Amino acid sequence: MTKLRKAVFPVAGLGTRFLPATKAVPKEMLTVVDRPVIQYVVDEAREAGIEHFIFVTGRNKTVIEDHFDIQVELYDTLARRGKNDVLERLRQLQPEPGQTSFTRQQEPLGLGHAVWCARELVGDEPFALLLPDMIMQSEPGCLKQMVELFNQTDGNILSVEECDPSQTHKYGIVGRGEAVAGGFRINAMVEKPKPAEAPSNFYISGRYILQPEIFSLLGRHERGAGGEIQLTDAMLKLMQEQPFHGHHFTGQTFDCGSPEGFVEANLAFALARPDLRDHVMRMMEQAGGK
Ligand code: UTP
Repeated sequence: MTKLRKAVFPVAGLGTRFLPATKAVPKEMLTVVDRPVIQYVVDEAREAGIEHFIFVTGRNKTVIEDHFDIQVELYDTLARRGKNDVLERLRQLQPEPGQTSFTRQQEPLGLGHAVWCARELVGDEPFALLLPDMIMQSEPGCLKQMVELFNQTDGNILSVEECDPSQTHKYGIVGRGEAVAGGFRINAMVEKPKPAEAPSNFYISGRYILQPEIFSLLGRHERGAGGEIQLTDAMLKLMQEQPFHGHHFTGQTFDCGSPEGFVEANLAFALARPDLRDHVMRMMEQAGGK
C-alpha cells in the first residue's frame, strides 16, 4: 500500500464567474470569513496526512505563493507588538520549508491539462487532487475520509454527492456499483448527462485520489467538451484498466467559484465560529423580519 503524500491544487482557471473581483485577485484568494478559500483546501489536505502541496498556477496568481510563504517583516512586527496569539495562528497554517511546489499551466487549456502540468512534481505515485473552488465542511474532512477508503481498496477514489435528479446535466455523474468498504465501485462515468441518460444522481464533487497512470492518458492532449482537455475523459480511459471507487461525502460542500456558493460558505463558516455565530444569527433574524 503506497502512502498518499502529495496533493495537487489546480489554480490556473480564469474565474470569469467572479468578475470583476477576479480581475486582479485570484478567486482562490477571496476570503471566506477571515481565510482565503485556498487555505481551507490546503488545511483539509494537511489533515489527511498530505506532506507536499503542488499548485498549478497561472499569470496573476503569484499572491498564492506569497500567502504560503513567511512574511518576515509582518512576523517581526507582530512579535514586537506582543501579538503572540496571531503569530501562533499564522505559524500553524504555514507549510514547512520545502513542502510547497508551484508550476505554471501557461495556457488555461482545461482541468485535465492543469493536472497534467503537475506530472513531474507528482512522479510515479498516487496523488490527491483538490479543486479549490469547492470547500467542504465536515469532521473529519472529506479527503481524510477518502484516504480511509483508499487504504482499503487502493486504485482511484472520487468523492461523490447526490444532486437533484433533474440537475445531472450540470455535473460529472457516476454509476453506482456494488458496495465496497464503506464506499462503492464506480461502474460508469458520464460528463453532464441529461437526467434520462444519467446512470445515477451521484456527482463528482471536487476531491480525487488518482493513480499516476492518469498522466500518460492526459498527455495525449485529446480535446473534449468545450475544446478543453478534460479530466473526466482521461478518467474514463483509466477506468478500463483500474478500479475506481466512490466515497459518498455527506458533509456540506460550497462551490466558491459561484457567487451563491461563496455567500453560503461565508454564512456557514461564520455560523460555525463561536465568536461570530450570535452576531450573524441576529443579523439574519433582522433581515428575515423585514
Ligand atoms: P472552472 O471550471 O471553475 O473554471 O475550473 P475557472 O476558469 O476557474 O472559473 P470560471 O468558470 O471561468 O468562473 C475548475 C478548477 O480547475 C482549474 C480552476 O482553477 C478551478 O480550480 N482550472 C480550470 C485550471 O487550473 N486550468 C484550466 O485550464 C481550467
